[in-house]
Amino acid sequence: MTTDLKEQKQTADTASITFNGKSVSLPVVRGTEAETAIDIEKLRSSTGLITIDPGYGNTGSCKSAITFIDGEKGILRYRGYPIEELAAKSTFLEVAWLLIHGELPTKDELGGFTKDVTIHTMLHQDFGRFFDALPKDAHPMPVCAAAVGALATYYQKPESDQQAHDTIIRLIAKMPTIAAYSYKHSIGQPFIYPQNRLGYTENFLNMMFSVPCDTYEVDPVLARTVDLLLILHADHEQNCSTSTVRMVGSSMANLYASIAAGISALWGPLHGGANQQVIEMLERIAAEEGSADRFLAKAKDKNDTARLMGFGHRVYKSYDPRAAILKKACNQVIERVGVSSRLLEIAMNLEEIALKDDYFVSRKLYPNVDFYSGVIYQALGIPVNMFTVMFTLGRLPGWIAQWLEMRRDKDFRISRPRQIYVGSPKRPYVPLAARG
Ligand code: CMC
Repeated sequence: MTTDLKEQKQTADTASITFNGKSVSLPVVRGTEAETAIDIEKLRSSTGLITIDPGYGNTGSCKSAITFIDGEKGILRYRGYPIEELAAKSTFLEVAWLLIHGELPTKDELGGFTKDVTIHTMLHQDFGRFFDALPKDAHPMPVCAAAVGALATYYQKPESDQQAHDTIIRLIAKMPTIAAYSYKHSIGQPFIYPQNRLGYTENFLNMMFSVPCDTYEVDPVLARTVDLLLILHADHEQNCSTSTVRMVGSSMANLYASIAAGISALWGPLHGGANQQVIEMLERIAAEEGSADRFLAKAKDKNDTARLMGFGHRVYKSYDPRAAILKKACNQVIERVGVSSRLLEIAMNLEEIALKDDYFVSRKLYPNVDFYSGVIYQALGIPVNMFTVMFTLGRLPGWIAQWLEMRRDKDFRISRPRQIYVGSPKRPYVPLAARG
């Protein structure tokens, strides 16, 4: 199946570039929400010029019909549905279907999807040996990336539409099992098998916290909170890890390999790893008796590498709508589990001071999704090194949807940016003996 994303949204407008006395007229495209772009596909062939845009802040890498963000207004929608409504009314599996298929599922579709996911949660028994080969103190993120890549060794097949469907089910079904096993491995406990009687997030919590010699009852409120967190992380258009998934997939690499690369990209502290850094920052401030002002001074100091983690975003230049939802959920969870809210208090205090401080206001730096998610994960008993893995569980359907959209685009091409070379001009080879 292919989709024609290219022909959609061409406008009558053009933009001109004049270079070396010659003008070229480039087409202008406009999206559903009136975002506008110059289509530079013919720029190089007609002028010899390329564009340079470090960090791609002004570059649209694709047309996409999956997620819309208006960073100035703090809007996030999946397939047209506002994140606030999805967070309040849907479930993670429903959102996963929506992202992948483009429409909310019917009752039958959701029932079938849930059943398929439920019966594919087990890992091949040989996978135990994979975990045994890794050091006990391995961070769960590279473990997850390696495990997802290794799934391709069990299910190597060219991808017809039916096989792509099976791969998608397997990935969504097995990811919580891989995540929980990576945690159990790190603490030396036996793996807990998935159970078909449990829902998606209940099953994950059970595999994380159950032990063979004891009973563990999943609290439905906490399971719903995890579901909410997964919904909020499910897609975020062309961020670093999603662009990685598309980039790797554009070489015709299979879905497992592409997702494994996405997990590696997500691990970085400026992307998915920020939630872990937020908690570490809050704990440091707590240990130093609430030195919020002192920490903010360091975050503002250009000679200091400290940043206010969980603040700022490439796209949001106002409050991240996901952070607003999580801030409310924080209080509920902390009340439910009866833990100390010291870190939440520090976070709220930091936010209050930062949002009045000219440094943060003038740069439009607001709390992002990670500012409050870490506090919730900690209240849920999720260990700090698993925070980014939680992000991975949530982002998986978004990665899949974006990968499918790219591969089904009829104008699909391998990703291959250019560069401006600034190295040495041509020079003769110097033999080793003459190099001193
Ligand atoms: N603390 C202090 N200063 C900051 C921060 C921060 N958290 N974020 C940006 N700035 C400053 C930055 O120093 C720069 O100042 P100046 O103009 O004086 O040089 C200005 O604000 C613009 O920052 P930038 O680094 O050019 O912005 P960016 O769009 O390249 O980076 C970001 C976005 C998210 C990487 C950055 O804001 C950051 O490092 N935030 C902390 C890490 C974080 O919370 N990451 C999670 C992002 S949300 C989850 C996800 O989608 O992955």
